[in-house]
Amino acid sequence: IGRMTSRGILHGVTWTGGPRDGRLSIIDQTRLPAEVVDVELVDLAAVRGAILRLAVRGAPAIGIAAAYGVVVHLRNVRDNLGPLAAAADLAAPLAEAVRDLGATRPTAINLRWALGRMERSAAQASLADVDGMIDRLYAEATLIHAEDKLLCDRIAAHGRDLLPLGGTIYTHCNTGSLATGGVGTALGCIIAAHQAGRGISVIAGETRPLLQGSRLTAPELMHARVPVRLACDSTAGSLMARGLVQGVMVGADRIARNGDTANKIGTYALAVLARFHHIPFLVAAPASTFDHALATGAGIPIEERGADEVIRPLGVAFAPPATPVVNPAFDVTPADLITAIVTEAGVLRPPFAPAIAAFLEQQERR
Ligand code: MRU
Repeated sequence: IGRMTSRGILHGVTWTGGPRDGRLSIIDQTRLPAEVVDVELVDLAAVRGAILRLAVRGAPAIGIAAAYGVVVHLRNVRDNLGPLAAAADLAAPLAEAVRDLGATRPTAINLRWALGRMERSAAQASLADVDGMIDRLYAEATLIHAEDKLLCDRIAAHGRDLLPLGGTIYTHCNTGSLATGGVGTALGCIIAAHQAGRGISVIAGETRPLLQGSRLTAPELMHARVPVRLACDSTAGSLMARGLVQGVMVGADRIARNGDTANKIGTYALAVLARFHHIPFLVAAPASTFDHALATGAGIPIEERGADEVIRPLGVAFAPPATPVVNPAFDVTPADLITAIVTEAGVLRPPFAPAIAAFLEQQERR
């Protein structure tokens, strides 16, 4: 924890320098909390690999990393083109980057949303020269990054007052500065509530199999001096039954138009438990997490990850090597179990379908 937090708030994704000479680096989240290791992502394969192995993770952060990854790739392509190259020569490499990066993680829609913005930005450019095109795409990537920081602040401002005074909030997975471009979504609300003197404390679920809760969330909250206790995932029901939890707050990877919400595996079980125990279940996410095309959560693709993550999480043998495994990385919480969804524009409440329609319409008018 000391080594992790002596660096202050840890940002998952960083771009240093300008469009022509800048570098994309991430903190390798697989090595936290033992060590803080910055990794420079020098080409498309490196960006793809980092997203696949969860070295960079969290829906908004992978969208930001992928946007910068497009710039890194096109810059590398440019270096191999002759002096007569034109922006049109970048069309195929751009499509390749969008396809490769977009295929890494199917559930988090922020990834495709960010890549879609990069594609549209390129299509709108009437620039003839290669460097002009790269400058434009770099500007779009930095905008995606900077906007996410701002959206996190707005979500935190809206969400903090929802958290019960003096209450204990259960959270799952990791939704803070490592997972976003700013202070985070659910974790941003929690830290803001603490800073506003609401006297909250937190129980962070460890989040099997890869332990984002224990490795990332608990240290982040300790660094922010928010009172936090780490709990095994299997304690949630008992803790609620004993009256030790007054609210649940989580992030999201994709939200359908009716409010059905995909998030880290285990979230659905928490929502069912919260309903049974009459505890508010809150989701925090920016507009980029909403899927305009999906009427319900039934169409959300659920990422199935490798057996090794369950058999040998983080390299430690938990089961015999040949054990058959089922390892869905996400689940879908039905909108009926959700008390409120906190966005940058305010708090959405049931019935979610009209509230989300109005929110997305307002976003499109911006
Ligand atoms: O597999 P992960 O660690 O990328 O899963 C992350 C989550 O489920 C988060 O809750 C979600 O992406 C929101 S991050 C602000």
